[in-house]
Amino acid sequence: MADQNYDYDVLVIGAGPGGYVAAIRAAQLGLKTACAESRETLGGTCLNVGCIPSKAMLHASEYYDAAKGGTMKEMGIEVNPKLNLEQMHAQRRDAVKGLTGGIEFLFKKNKIDWKKGHATFEDAHTVKVGDETVTAKNVIIATGSSVTPLPNVEVDNDKQVVVDSTGALELAKVPKKMVVIGGGVIGLELGSVWRRLGAEVVVVEFLDQLLPGMDMDVRKEAAKIFKKQGMELMLGHKVTGCTVKGRKATLTVEKAAGGDEQKIEADCVLVSIGRRPNTEGLGLDKIGLETNKRGQIETDHDFRTAVDGVWAIGDVVPGPMLAHKAEDEGIACAENIAGPTGIVNHDVIPGVVYTWPEIAGVGLTTEEAIEKAGGDKAAVKVGKFPMMANSRAKTNHEPDGFVKVVADAETDRVLGVWCIASVAGTMIAQAAQAMEFGATSEDIAYTCHAHPTHSEAIKEAAMAVQGKPIHI
Ligand code: FAD
Ligand code: NAI
Repeated sequence: MADQNYDYDVLVIGAGPGGYVAAIRAAQLGLKTACAESRETLGGTCLNVGCIPSKAMLHASEYYDAAKGGTMKEMGIEVNPKLNLEQMHAQRRDAVKGLTGGIEFLFKKNKIDWKKGHATFEDAHTVKVGDETVTAKNVIIATGSSVTPLPNVEVDNDKQVVVDSTGALELAKVPKKMVVIGGGVIGLELGSVWRRLGAEVVVVEFLDQLLPGMDMDVRKEAAKIFKKQGMELMLGHKVTGCTVKGRKATLTVEKAAGGDEQKIEADCVLVSIGRRPNTEGLGLDKIGLETNKRGQIETDHDFRTAVDGVWAIGDVVPGPMLAHKAEDEGIACAENIAGPTGIVNHDVIPGVVYTWPEIAGVGLTTEEAIEKAGGDKAAVKVGKFPMMANSRAKTNHEPDGFVKVVADAETDRVLGVWCIASVAGTMIAQAAQAMEFGATSEDIAYTCHAHPTHSEAIKEAAMAVQGKPIHI
């Protein structure tokens, strides 16, 4: 039962995977809960324009590519696929509709009131949502993030020439040539979708490798694989300007360090240089809450902000911008409000890039592990096993990639696991669980893994930490 002084025990602002999960957990714990969301549907970026629709397009285009590109032929299946892009989009929209509707059902089931509209603080316990004023003992900010704009490159999703990730999900035609600005997760996932469907794809990445934050071996191998698939990679380059005439864009590109300018024409340009936290128009000034240099809201370990009664989770706080990280923070935050202790182990958050093959990692990169050991390379042991030597991957015609286990040389404790494999996103779960339990590489090496599975490569990489893999 709510504190008599307030309408609700908890008001969550934002119904993305952070917010909707926090709201459900709070309600499960007996707190009277409301959730403010300005979108027409629940589920936030993830369900509406992020994880789910991008995976719908990735999955469908993977089938198309397998049918067209030869993998099926190698297996004795000869087909001549015809692309029905409208239907591909329809099944994507269907997935989004079903899942966002599912959250609405869960809200009703858990008696969570959805306050429709944009929320702004009046004070720490009073929030205006549209025309309504709502009071709550606790307010959780879960407003997520939006696309970081690139100066001189104006996004217009309606025109479908210069688009962001939301626009790139909706293209009505396969572009002949697409330039992706930013070789991070979105650029590679959505670039892969349109390459598979027939576009010529050029990725312009500022840094000298793709996928910042991942293990260097993984970044280098990923670049080789994407090049082999036909993507052109312009690493160490930046886009300095863009003009649009009719249905064509002309980009000016130069080396990251500066130098001669070159022009590239494209039918479609995808701007994917990162995302930034949503705090504008939230009225943080009214409650005296400041953001850090990156625009994020800082919290303590329990997700409390500097303002009493105000909490924050998900993309709007520091850490990787990932749906599962937001979800776990939502659960922990609601638990901390209700009484029991909610904890998120931020050292063990897996990350997956859903390209073909998938790229996944958890924990420290080799470089980070060495840096943490004060630069002492001998303090870190690494075991690597190629997917080419994994019987299942080889049989399935999926030879690309490897698994790498990074361990502490003295204690053998696993510090990080990195995979490139067709099902790396599924494989990484066991690595995360092992690390959560403080496993050593020997623990993984002596765990019986079913045969023939891709996961055996994790066991072999763990054995390789001691220099004793079997199948290589
Ligand atoms: P969000 O999901 O951004 O939700 C915040 C919600 O708050 C929004 O619905 C917004 O409308 C609402 N809101 C904001 N301000 C207000 C306000 N003042 N009043 C009312 N409502 C407000 N992550 C993964 O882990 N796996 C993936 O495969 C993956 N794929 C992605 C693909 C794309 C194309 C993109 C863009 C992102 C992807 N992400 C993925 C990232 C993931 O979507 C985010 O990390 C996640 O959605 C963050 O959750 P959140 O709850 O913090 O915020
Ligand atoms: P990102 O941070 O992954 O990649 C952005 C890339 O753009 C970086 O490689 C960066 O070096 C580069 N860059 C920055 N400025 C540039 C410039 N001016 N010119 C050229 N390159 C430039 O960001 P992205 O891909 O936009 O994704 C945003 C967030 O969404 C990510 O942080 C990710 O966590 C999340 N996401 C997660 C997915 C997943 O989990 N599978 C899928 C898609 C998004």
